[in-house]
Amino acid sequence: MSSQSTRGPISINTLNTIKRRGEKFAALTAYDALFANLISTSGIEVILVGDSLGMVLQGHDSTLPVTLDDMVYHMNTVRRGNQGSLIMADLPFMSYASENQSLESAAALMRCGAHMVKLEGGAWLAASTRLLFERGIPVCAHMGLTPQAINRLGGYRVQGRNPDQATAMIEEAKILQDAGASILLLECVPTNLGKEITETLDVPVIGIGAGPHTDGQIMVMHDMLGITPTSIRVPKFVKNFMPESTDGGIKGAFEAYALAVHENRFPGPEHSFK
Ligand code: KIV
Repeated sequence: MSSQSTRGPISINTLNTIKRRGEKFAALTAYDALFANLISTSGIEVILVGDSLGMVLQGHDSTLPVTLDDMVYHMNTVRRGNQGSLIMADLPFMSYASENQSLESAAALMRCGAHMVKLEGGAWLAASTRLLFERGIPVCAHMGLTPQAINRLGGYRVQGRNPDQATAMIEEAKILQDAGASILLLECVPTNLGKEITETLDVPVIGIGAGPHTDGQIMVMHDMLGITPTSIRVPKFVKNFMPESTDGGIKGAFEAYALAVHENRFPGPEHSFK
């Protein structure tokens, strides 16, 4: 079991060590100082300032309206509350459409205290990933269901079910790792594909709806507190941890989630896709 309280500030090296030892790490979204503080003192290694804020905070029906200014605002508040978790920040829709734009956008978030930026996409991101990596900006590559591409995907559904798609995803994940990606995040893919990609890559893989074999797990905070806005359909991979809260409250729910991930009790088959 990994415990942040015994590890000090979390870095990419910590996550690499967790993977090498066959342990697990937990990640959760946060969008402000208060929750960043509660999460980072509950044994959760990674905070994502996710563009999901467009849906859970701003009331949009997708992440597309979120701007870089929005992300900078929330990133600044999260940094103030954080107590040693690694902070990853999303580059929002159309803020990394070209290599130069990705550098400018990522720099804006790093200046506010992000430790890593997350970009959604596959092999087409290799050049930007290399550029960022070479200039000292760690990249998390988000593959599988990529919500910023929802209009091309046609809906929030499982990706990589068909063998050709699965093979292509594995190849593109390797390309992004070779380009310098420090972490891969896999959303909504079958369990066996999540396992294969995790075993194939040297870098840590975080899953959301990608089965129990990935090195880390992530959830949207509102989902695991059971307060998903009613306008959003709760996905199968979500578990509400409030009933298991160690203190009956929100901090206890964060602790219960961290423990369940560290002990590999979450996600179960009921939260995964065959
Ligand atoms: O923006 C976000 O919250 C995310 C998670 C769904 C992983 O990207």
